[in-house]
Amino acid sequence: MTGEALFPGPHFSRVNGDLHLGGVKLSDLAEKYGTPLYVYDFDRIRSRARHLAKELHAVNERSRAFFAVKALSNLSALKALHSEGLGMDVVSGGEIERCLATGINARDIVFSGVAKSRDEISLGVRVGIGCFNIESPHEVDLLIASLGQAGKKARVALRINPDVDGKTHEKINTGLAETKFGLNPTLAMTVARKILQHPCLILSGVSSHIGSQIFDLQTFRDAGHEVREFAKNLLELGAPIDHIDMGGGLGVAHRPGELDNAPTFKAWVDAVKTSLPNRDTALHLEPGRSIVADSGVLLTRVIEVKSGDSKKFALVDAGMTELLRPALYDAYHRIEHVARETTDNDQRYDVVGPVCETSCWLGEDEPLPGLSSGDVLAILTSGAYGMTMASNYNTRAKPAELAIEQSSVRLIRKQETLSSLWELERF
Ligand code: LLP
Repeated sequence: MTGEALFPGPHFSRVNGDLHLGGVKLSDLAEKYGTPLYVYDFDRIRSRARHLAKELHAVNERSRAFFAVKALSNLSALKALHSEGLGMDVVSGGEIERCLATGINARDIVFSGVAKSRDEISLGVRVGIGCFNIESPHEVDLLIASLGQAGKKARVALRINPDVDGKTHEKINTGLAETKFGLNPTLAMTVARKILQHPCLILSGVSSHIGSQIFDLQTFRDAGHEVREFAKNLLELGAPIDHIDMGGGLGVAHRPGELDNAPTFKAWVDAVKTSLPNRDTALHLEPGRSIVADSGVLLTRVIEVKSGDSKKFALVDAGMTELLRPALYDAYHRIEHVARETTDNDQRYDVVGPVCETSCWLGEDEPLPGLSSGDVLAILTSGAYGMTMASNYNTRAKPAELAIEQSSVRLIRKQETLSSLWELERF
């Protein structure tokens, strides 16, 4: 086997049995940097960003993507994405500060998120956020107060809740009326009238985000329909609507069999552009997962293999603390041995982590070549919501992160030191 392309894409290959990402042998990285370890292919991330930007430009010149920082917030990743022309979509004061620390101008930031605090809104006003995506009447009051004190103006968009089922995992389905997100169209209209009365607020857009890991594009069209009707009403009221923000949410394949069904950027843009009230309106998107998920792997080492009554457990050195998605959403992540290909006669393992919770698992009944202590496994499609959802539970230090770019490797975050975990504590 030499250099054959693998799932999830051509950035992965096996050369003489060894798994490579972006041309770099993963077992070498595990050896040099230790495990658990996150590794991202930045060439892949950049090419995904360029691909989406191209599809958006085909809609019109002002259409643009804002990367959802919560998916992968490492400063180096944000810098790379910003250099490809993406703006940033943030949901907290912390994420604003991260973007500023990266050197990103606040004008390139959209401030989304439910329950923005007074301090976060003041920070946004102080630094000059490009657009506030408003989700409640209270936020408008906080914004008006903060702008008044600063003597400034701000652009805002209203996030409506379109009551559309994104047909995804219930914990990441955000477009239904029963969820906490956005404003129902009636309340949104009341808030719009209030905004239009305040000269310090510019009602420049309508936004929506119906959920994450969505495969069914009809759900975006349904949401788009609600958004367009609402935007038309605002235009009739005289609002200077210049953009529609259809959020993020495009799903990615986690299994080879899903590759053919996974929607492309072109199909996504075609679906969401139906939300535009007219041809000059800019289309904004807030992709996270679809830009970075398949570029990343979590490397973990087998500590030991243990037989249960009916199962074989591969006990590994990463778990729910490094990758929470299986524990939280029963999410499937394909697992590969970094030095040996999986074949049809392989054994089946539950790949489980060290944390003292039954839910600390990474793979269930996963086919893998016969494992022994010291073997390294790659947990695929972990570039999004992997490191950003990692925790210190069981007093575990968060892992290091590496970037591969043009076949060279860069440490973009050191592994945490244990002592830093109690540094802020006092007797
Ligand atoms: N915009 C807003 C307002 C959002 O809330 C989100 C994600 C995005 C954009 C980006 O969505 P994406 O393109 O990444 O699907 N932790 C979960 C995902 C939670 C997503 C929360 N909001 C997971 O690991 O599946």
